[in-house]
Amino acid sequence: MKHRILVTGSAGRLGRAAVAALVANGHHVIGIDLRPTPGLPPGQSLVATLADVAVLRAAAKGVDCIIHLAATPDDARYPRGEAPDDGDNFLDGLVPNNIVGLYNLLEIARTSKVPRVVLASTGQVIDRHLDSGNVPVNASTRIAPRYLYACTKVFLEAVGQVYAREHGIEILAVRLGWCPRDAGQVAQIAASVEDQDVYLSPGDAGRFFAATVEAEKVPGFHVVYATSKPVNKVLYDLRETTHLIGFEPHDTWPTGASEG
Ligand SMILES: NC(=O)c1ccc[n+]([C@@H]2O[C@H](COP(=O)([O-])OP(=O)(O)OC[C@H]3O[C@@H](n4cnc5c(N)ncnc54)[C@H](O)[C@@H]3O)[C@@H](O)[C@H]2O)c1
Repeated sequence: MKHRILVTGSAGRLGRAAVAALVANGHHVIGIDLRPTPGLPPGQSLVATLADVAVLRAAAKGVDCIIHLAATPDDARYPRGEAPDDGDNFLDGLVPNNIVGLYNLLEIARTSKVPRVVLASTGQVIDRHLDSGNVPVNASTRIAPRYLYACTKVFLEAVGQVYAREHGIEILAVRLGWCPRDAGQVAQIAASVEDQDVYLSPGDAGRFFAATVEAEKVPGFHVVYATSKPVNKVLYDLRETTHLIGFEPHDTWPTGASEG
């Protein structure tokens, strides 16, 4: 079955991967980003911010699923410093985009009766378990966020749970592995076996997001993980992801790492 999908952050690293896979599978994709989205015709590539509520509302009309990726990421400065000199811009970046923008998006999903929303969380919400060797992590693992960016994703998971329960929207919060955005990040992963074990290739990311759309029913709220196949050790338990939406990774680091 072909679906009508709205992807926010569609011009970004994961957005491009999601759009490519969804278009390849024959779905009708509308992208919203601060810049035009590669791979979409101009009429389906909206240039807007998460604050442009009227644009978001019009774009969400009649969609089967929203894949919400637009956010301020954690690498305004990279490599990051140690807390509190981490480089996260809480007041001017994380709050307007990751908190207020997320709220705008979920309110539009609620009022437009969008049946399913996929929210981009991060493995950084359980980061401290990796440091202490308490692995593999799964959906029941106690929250142990890395720093302020990760705290906005803890909010994302909490508010997703509330919108699923109170408004009957199917919500998947995905703790994403690491899909590198540039050569610097590729080099960081190359230097760390642990990072290679949570690597997410663009190809697997695309297949994962297509599976979130194509899965028949995912009632309620779910936390799932998405990575490629580990090189060394299973750090993120993907069994719930496979059970719920049928996704299984194909790739292993470094397949796809240098893709544009
Ligand atoms: N890439 C990873 O390894 C990774 C890991 C964990 C979680 N995530 C999450 O996945 C999502 C996508 O990450 P990415 O790596 O593709 O990031 P990215 O920075 O490459 O893409 C994000 C896109 O969102 C857009 N955007 C940002 N703020 C916006 C706003 N207010 N309105 C409209 N568009 C806006 C940007 O222009 C950008 O194109 C983010 O929510 C991120 O926190 C990514």
